[in-house]
Amino acid sequence: MSSRLLIDVHNHVYLPRYASLLRSRSNAPRILSRLAVSGGTEERLLILDHEPSGGRPVGPQYWDRSEKLKFMDLHGIDISIVSSANPWLDFLSASSAVDMAKSLNEDLEEYCQTSPTVSLSLKRLYGFGLLPLVPSVSSNSLVQIVDQISSLPHLKGVIMGTRGIGKGLDDEALNPMWEAIERKGLVIFLHPHYGVGKEEWGEKENGHVLPLALGFPMETTIAVTRLILAGVLDRYPNLRLLLAHSGGALPQLSSRLASCIHHDPVVASRLKHDARYYLGKLWFDAVAYGSEELEFVGKVVSRATRYKSASAPTETDVPQSNKLLFGTDYPFFPPLEAQNEKWRSVLDNLEAINGVESWTQDEKDNALYQNAIDLFGLNQSKA
Ligand code: URA
Ligand code: ZN
Repeated sequence: MSSRLLIDVHNHVYLPRYASLLRSRSNAPRILSRLAVSGGTEERLLILDHEPSGGRPVGPQYWDRSEKLKFMDLHGIDISIVSSANPWLDFLSASSAVDMAKSLNEDLEEYCQTSPTVSLSLKRLYGFGLLPLVPSVSSNSLVQIVDQISSLPHLKGVIMGTRGIGKGLDDEALNPMWEAIERKGLVIFLHPHYGVGKEEWGEKENGHVLPLALGFPMETTIAVTRLILAGVLDRYPNLRLLLAHSGGALPQLSSRLASCIHHDPVVASRLKHDARYYLGKLWFDAVAYGSEELEFVGKVVSRATRYKSASAPTETDVPQSNKLLFGTDYPFFPPLEAQNEKWRSVLDNLEAINGVESWTQDEKDNALYQNAIDLFGLNQSKA
């Protein structure tokens, strides 16, 4: 691929079928209509039971494909890998979740397949499918939906929350699902929804700041750490996981994690490698809003092979930006006031990549598009 591109791997949609489901509900997650201060009605999205500020305003940016394409044009984004937004199917019964997953995966395939093209071989939209990850769902159903997703040519992976089928991602019952995802070569996008216990946030009204800035990344940190501790990456070494929000606090805490494991008789001999090795097996979106943070994640990831066990095959260090990928989190974090102008949240994440002092232009291009082409096999895609 010779021409330069911009590829957004972290952005969301509530597909029309899903938005209708949320409108039909009387408890969270739901979309409700209420009288607007300006007169008329407005729709609001409530995704958690005790959502601050009466939820958030929602509109066509959440479901309308032409709005997403307009946003992409405004910011020079050539390709988006679109995922359903949280809380996915978490609130449904097993049989409804299976039916809904099948239908939404077909909807998303159509949404991508009928999108405009970037070039002869590339569409502007690709997607992450949904799995019916709810309590009591059978492994067979999970594997069947993995098969469905991998048969849909414009879906390149699955988006997944942190709860698995109710017991988290270290649940052995998920083994057939990991095996199927690995066999089909789908990318897993691991994304938070629940944050951490709301009692941590005190009594002051701080809007969504604490759950979003701290709760979300901590949730991801804990989930992926449990997955590593359960040996999932030892059993399925070719699984490809992309972590939301640059992996939360995992890069900062990975040496501490390694030391705690080393000193704990319960887990000391459980894993094949030092905990830091597994960071090199992960991908990280670049939704961190700062150059220094990206540079730090790149450094931590690139040193991972130093921590492989002596018996592992020789691997060379990963170049510093090779596991980081540009994202926007659209339609979340829109500007509070001016419309039709570029979004601060997007500009911050672009400037963060372009401002990493130690990266060459090629290394910045890796994060802006080349890593996405490689991870999602877009050079092999047919439009
Ligand atoms: N808020 C959410 O609920 N989801 C996101 O992905 C980002 C912000
Ligand atoms: Zn997101």
